[in-house]
Amino acid sequence: MRVLSGIQPSGKLHLGNYLAAMKQHIELEEKHDCYYFIANYHALTTIQDAPTLVANTRDVALDYLAMGFDPTKALLFRQSDVPEVTELTWLLSVVTGKGLLDRATSYKDKVARGIAASMGLFSYPILMAADILIYHSDVVPVGKDQVQHIEMAQDMATHFNMTFKCEVFKRPEAKLNEALIVPGLDGQKMSKSYGNAVSLFDDAKTNRKRIMSIKTDSTPLEAPKDPERCTVFGLYKLLATPAETQALEQRYRAGGMGYGEAKQMLADVVERLLGPARERRAELVKDADYVEDMLRTAGRRARETARAVMEQARAACGIVTARN
Ligand code: AMP
Ligand code: TRP
Repeated sequence: MRVLSGIQPSGKLHLGNYLAAMKQHIELEEKHDCYYFIANYHALTTIQDAPTLVANTRDVALDYLAMGFDPTKALLFRQSDVPEVTELTWLLSVVTGKGLLDRATSYKDKVARGIAASMGLFSYPILMAADILIYHSDVVPVGKDQVQHIEMAQDMATHFNMTFKCEVFKRPEAKLNEALIVPGLDGQKMSKSYGNAVSLFDDAKTNRKRIMSIKTDSTPLEAPKDPERCTVFGLYKLLATPAETQALEQRYRAGGMGYGEAKQMLADVVERLLGPARERRAELVKDADYVEDMLRTAGRRARETARAVMEQARAACGIVTARN
């Protein structure tokens, strides 16, 4: 089974990225043929400064390695090291109705947040479909906010195959885990652009301070509390063991425990995950060539797969090239 996913190098990665996406990516590498890439072409829709994009791209690779990604089991590469994806984006765009893109909620959300409504941002889902379809991906592990984009990729695969009477593209399926949408400090979706995130690689003190600032309701200390409606508990259950989660749930329902104590417990389980990763990252940073070599080697391998599929796609629609 071919697994594929991408992550944008558009800022510091946070617990929402890890719990919904990265964690699945790392688990899946044990049993499947996994392709993961750093979506630097996508990030250009928001990051338009060369040194920042270069640095962010390397940071994502370091973050993956530090969180446990194993380059001997799966590929991690730069999207732009497979330039065929931009060529496929064009082929898909001629079989994609504008109405399909008009319905993209992610585009509307981004524009509402003040991101420039460029053509790149509008056609973002076509580039994403090309990313997925060019590797004949079966499964795409992502957070819930990306599901609509994967449904669009399914539509594009079908439209292309129907229009050109071929079977070039496979229909991919989204894969979600229990995290779905990870809440941020204010209870809204955790996002780098909302200022409500716990970053993966801030220091322990900063993380704890931010966790202590999570918004909670005004239920008094002695009163029973509803864990299902509390952001602190919502995050805790994604990080703690089932026994720990059950214990905290009982304490919420029994009353007599304040939110401050629950926040400290959350900060502890966050640090249990991130502390060792922070140390691994500090080691990895010292070897400048390691990350670059890994990305390049993986990019070359991914490109071989992409080239073969791209040849079929060109042939299906009658594009004759002198290249091959
Ligand atoms: P992005 O940072 O937008 O490139 O997102 C990378 C991955 O993290 C995608 O699969 C998203 O669905 C996922 N993701 C980002 N923020 C959250 C969140 N708050 N809850 C769940 N998934 C998220
Ligand atoms: N749009 C995705 C996000 O913001 C990143 C992405 C780009 C992606 N291409 C992809 C995810 C292909 C899965 C498959 O999270």
